[in-house]
Amino acid sequence: MKDDQDWIPDATDLAWIESIAGSVPEAAAAIEAAAAPLDVPIVDRHTGRVLAALATGRGRIVEIGTAYGNSTLWMALGQPADGIIVTVDPDTERTKLARGFWRQAGIPDERIVQVSAPALDAFGDADPRLAGPFDLAFIDAIKGEYGAYLDALIDAGRLADGALVVADNVLWSGRVSGARPSGGGDRSTEALRAFCSRVAADPRFQTTILPLGDGLLVAGWRGAQ
Ligand SMILES: C[S@@+](CC[C@H](N)C(=O)[O-])C[C@H]1O[C@@H](n2cnc3c(N)ncnc32)[C@H](O)[C@@H]1O
Repeated sequence: MKDDQDWIPDATDLAWIESIAGSVPEAAAAIEAAAAPLDVPIVDRHTGRVLAALATGRGRIVEIGTAYGNSTLWMALGQPADGIIVTVDPDTERTKLARGFWRQAGIPDERIVQVSAPALDAFGDADPRLAGPFDLAFIDAIKGEYGAYLDALIDAGRLADGALVVADNVLWSGRVSGARPSGGGDRSTEALRAFCSRVAADPRFQTTILPLGDGLLVAGWRGAQ
């Protein structure tokens, strides 16, 4: 335990971390520049670096929610050179642009498989591209559906033993913990709270939440017990 219980990292610490981190890949910077004016929600570069680290050694990844492909890009850069990512998003206006950014980063097309459909439809139709087992699942689409995405991953055996389930936005700007008020009937907040509690209480997972970006849940899958 650290000596000074009141200390939390401040801007100096964050600047120092940034100073020793590798430079942001040009394609990731290009995605950030394209997403910002249109408010397309993408993971920030700190979360991107964590995703790249978590993807190390993970050959098969499934992602729910592609957008411009920022999280996909960071994971692809962390994966083995022959790693595969299957990424799902029905918004083809966004995901067509994603392919261009991945090419800019030199990632061969065959490494990233795009499924242009709502995730629950694609899982429900047993789309063969979504057959497991996957070594990492990154969840970043409709907040109220996180629990159903997890069911689709577990029930159909899509998680390899030792796989990681990673989910973004689980703090939802402080609304999940109650640090900030959420409007009555805020279904995303309630769904995210239920999702986190469920995963944390499931003995098949080893779970934590990193207070990074908008909150990143990381859960290791021990396998069905
Ligand atoms: C937060 S963005 C994803 C950002 C991306 N992971 C990144 O960090 O670069 C959420 C995406 O989920 C997509 N989405 C919406 N409904 C979906 C569904 N039913 N299944 C899969 N993706 C969906 C949206 O089109 C949007 O692009």
